[in-house]
Amino acid sequence: MDSFKWKDGFNIGIAEIDEQHRSFLDCLNDCNALISISGKNASIDQSLIDRLRAYATMHFRFEEGLMEAKGYPEIAQQRKMHKYFESQVDELEASLSKQGNRSLESVLSFLRDWFLNHVIEQDKRFASYVK
Ligand SMILES: [Fe+2]
Ligand SMILES: [Fe+2]
Repeated sequence: MDSFKWKDGFNIGIAEIDEQHRSFLDCLNDCNALISISGKNASIDQSLIDRLRAYATMHFRFEEGLMEAKGYPEIAQQRKMHKYFESQVDELEASLSKQGNRSLESVLSFLRDWFLNHVIEQDKRFASYVK
């Protein structure tokens, strides 16, 4: 599958956050590239998990800090979704040491759904509230 290209329409209009979202799309593309190399049934590797975790830790705290500062009324939902993402990363890591671990294909579809439903829907809602 071709890699996913960043489009102007993905920008929420807050420079730091857009930059961080681009790095998320890079992780998604690296997952896609790994599928081309190792096959869709291969399992995720530790370095991709580490990058997803680093992204989540830095980016979610950044967003939540800004949401707090701006008194965003939907911060609780955002926190809940961010926690869910982090719990999925924990689960991915736990699955590495188990039989029948998550396939790269399922990870890619999780990341893609997250991008479409959270990044360019929910985060955009926040950005339009701030503006
Ligand atoms: Fe975000
Ligand atoms: Fe978010």
